[in-house]
Amino acid sequence: MLLSVENISKYYTQKNNTLFGEKVKVIDSLSFNINSSEAFGLVGESGSGKSTLARLICGLELPDSGAIFLNNKPVTKRLHRQGIISIVFQDYMTSVNPTLTVGEIIAEPIKIINPSISTQALKTLIFAFLDKVELPKSCYTRYIFELSGGQAQRVCLCRALASYPKLIVLDEALSSLDIPTQVQILDLLKQLKEEFTLSYLFISHDIQTVAYFCDKVMFFLQGKNIELCEINNLGKVTQDYSKKLIQSVI
Ligand SMILES: Nc1ncnc2c1ncn2[C@@H]1O[C@H](COP(=O)(O)OP(=O)(O)OP(=O)(O)O)[C@@H](O)[C@H]1O
Ligand SMILES: [Mg+2]
Repeated sequence: MLLSVENISKYYTQKNNTLFGEKVKVIDSLSFNINSSEAFGLVGESGSGKSTLARLICGLELPDSGAIFLNNKPVTKRLHRQGIISIVFQDYMTSVNPTLTVGEIIAEPIKIINPSISTQALKTLIFAFLDKVELPKSCYTRYIFELSGGQAQRVCLCRALASYPKLIVLDEALSSLDIPTQVQILDLLKQLKEEFTLSYLFISHDIQTVAYFCDKVMFFLQGKNIELCEINNLGKVTQDYSKKLIQSVI
């Protein structure tokens, strides 16, 4: 098993009229696993805690209780997750440094793994990765704001791939793109999954996209796993919340 989430809970203190604020449980005693080569979908409404979970899995924040393991080692240690988990966010414009060229953005993770790589080898590798995400070589010297939304998100995907991760967390990564561009990138992600033996945690509020792309889906509400279902069995969900989400697109 690649990722194991074991009984995690997370609280935030949210402002109210009192001096101390109110402690709110955002992730509630959550457990699940992601296997190698699996596309795991997480679907839930806005505010249900999806991005919080993504941050916990990537070790950007700590759970208040429970633990998350990657290849049986806690993700809290950077060494255990570096180069193994990558994340792609929804907002491709602000998730990269706008003062860097595309070439420089993709070079960063490569140089972390291989600090002594020669300039020529680095450039060759970057061109190979650009090709993998179907971006032209001419993007190399461009800035992120000189690209279309779909191209910019391919750059983020390219950066995520450049450390040869085993798990890519996609947090609403395609939600701001139009449908044809989403489908193109989803098909590309499927290809890359085979080529790099990748797993995905695909976070979305859109069950249709999840059904197209994922092997299984967890229906998520108020930080809880309401129901976990194989994609082929979507017609057999038992919980009202899952049924409601599915019916909303039929
Ligand atoms: N750093 C924080 N401090 C306090 N509260 C937070 C913090 N981050 C998130 N929250 C709260 O936790 C809850 C879950 O937020 P989260 O961003 O994880 O939801 P989400 O499912 O990703 O929503 P969306 O679909 O809109 O992206 C929300 O009520 C949010 O206000
Ligand atoms: Mg979110």
